[in-house]
Amino acid sequence: MRTLLVTGGAGFIGSNFIRYMLNKHSNIRIVNLDKLTYAGNLDNLRDIEKDDRYRFVKGDICDASIVDPLVKEVDIIVNFAAESHVDRSIGSPDDFIQTDVFGTFVLLEAARKYSIDRFVQISTDEVYGSTENGFFNETDTLNPSSPYAASKCGADRLVYSYYVTYKLPVVIPRSSNNFGPYQYPEKLISLFTTNAIEDKSLPIYGDGLNVRDWLYVVDNCEGVEAVMERGGDGEVYNLGAGNEKTNLEITGLILKDLGKPESLMTYVEDRLGHDRRYALDTSKIKTLDWAPRHTFEDAMAETVAWYRDNETWWKKIKSGEYLEYYRQQYKQSH
Ligand code: NAD
Ligand code: TYD
Repeated sequence: MRTLLVTGGAGFIGSNFIRYMLNKHSNIRIVNLDKLTYAGNLDNLRDIEKDDRYRFVKGDICDASIVDPLVKEVDIIVNFAAESHVDRSIGSPDDFIQTDVFGTFVLLEAARKYSIDRFVQISTDEVYGSTENGFFNETDTLNPSSPYAASKCGADRLVYSYYVTYKLPVVIPRSSNNFGPYQYPEKLISLFTTNAIEDKSLPIYGDGLNVRDWLYVVDNCEGVEAVMERGGDGEVYNLGAGNEKTNLEITGLILKDLGKPESLMTYVEDRLGHDRRYALDTSKIKTLDWAPRHTFEDAMAETVAWYRDNETWWKKIKSGEYLEYYRQQYKQSH
């Protein structure tokens, strides 16, 4: 029986990962440490919260007094916890530096102290920055553009330094843009799908021709597991599916799927420092016997259907009821 500490497990990818791992393996335990920021949502895990192999702890990865005793009892850390939205990092970068960099440092210190078997740092393709042509491989120069990407880049290299300096057995998957169920409705696909269902406008930044490589979250979870289990110590693995799409192509697909008019598309001012294109060379992770199992078209159709069938989940968030609920909880606990 192995025990994983999953941080940020109440968020989008973390909750999908916890569900995926518990469904696949009978012989694991998972401790989910999450601060429950605006993006953390215990509704994401209602179906497994009573599983006796699962435990939720509300807390901040920056707080060593919470992190230390948890790390002492686990074998592996998978660090998903982060501030994750580029637009928010442009408005107020502080929390990004604090959680993404300092929080990772606190986890690393505890991992070193208790000789953890494996430290999995969830990184991102955004650390490479933008490229109009070609594909980034794991040894390319890192050139992040946004405060979000720069804070993730800092964490990525800090984790690597613990391998070089202290021989901590770390691995670093760098994933491309994820989509799927339980994504907070502020990212392109979750926001546009839920807006379209409500007949609200879809705010397209700039000319809408920016390109992202879209990865279904379940395929990402399988990739993270492959890296965790079979990745080499100190190694980085790009994790992408090669589904390069412009934002306009994504928007068109969502509208078509939902039978909504193109008049919902609204061109708005461009994002500051907007990266034009992310693209990964994924030959290295193929050596770990990983490949995405879902086609982009099927995964998109499933995702759009999920948001159509789970209005209660996202309407609670969008109505502000959810934020208010946590504001109250926070007030009561302070
Ligand atoms: P998310 O914003 O949905 O979830 C983040 C979770 O972290 C939330 O549950 C939040 O409450 C928690 N959290 C934030 N600060 C915390 C703190 N100080 N202590 C404890 N918990 C804290 O993010 P996501 O989209 O699920 O992304 C998860 C990870 O994957 C992040 O590290 C992100 O950088 C990385 N990533 C995401 C994508 C993507 O497309 N979403 C792509 C590549 C990499
Ligand atoms: P996003 O989902 O925020 O992911 P990231 O910026 O981390 O890649 O954005 C994906 C793309 O969609 C990006 O080019 C910005 C664009 N976008 C819009 O045009 N409108 C929006 O409202 C959002 C949230 C994103």
